Amino acid sequence: MNTQHLISLASFKGGVGKTTVAVHLAGYLAARAPTCVVDGDRTRNATFWHAGGHLKSAVISPSSIAREGRKYEYIPQVKVPARSKLGQSGAQGFETPG
Ligand SMILES: Nc1ncnc2c1ncn2[C@@H]1O[C@H](COP(=O)(O)OP(=O)(O)OP(=O)(O)O)[C@@H](O)[C@H]1O
Ligand SMILES: [Mg+2]
Repeated sequence: MNTQHLISLASFKGGVGKTTVAVHLAGYLAARAPTCVVDGDRTRNATFWHAGGHLKSAVISPSSIAREGRKYEYIPQVKVPARSKLGQSGAQGFETPG
């Protein structure tokens, strides 16, 4: 396994394109290396699109990262940060693959 890349698409505000960016990025990356979207969105649209057979990459829930995250080289993560974490820099407040 090469270096893993966790790419966070995060916004407290809804409807700003988190899921759209994550699934298109994942579709591009999945042709190059094992790729999985982590769907931490309230709406879980990536999960539903995957269930409908519409996506090229895998989609897992945040609670599955520890168990399944090691299999993937690229991990676009859709995330709604907690209000208390807003304004923190870097990756603070975000889960990382186990
Ligand atoms: N770059 C873009 N240009 C125009 N429209 C876009 C773009 N990205 C996303 N959209 C549209 O904006 C809407 C919201 O996008 P999306 O569902 O990806 O956002 P989200 O932040 O994941 O929202 P939610 O909080 O509801 O899960 C969708 O209708 C989508 O088609
Ligand atoms: Mg979304």
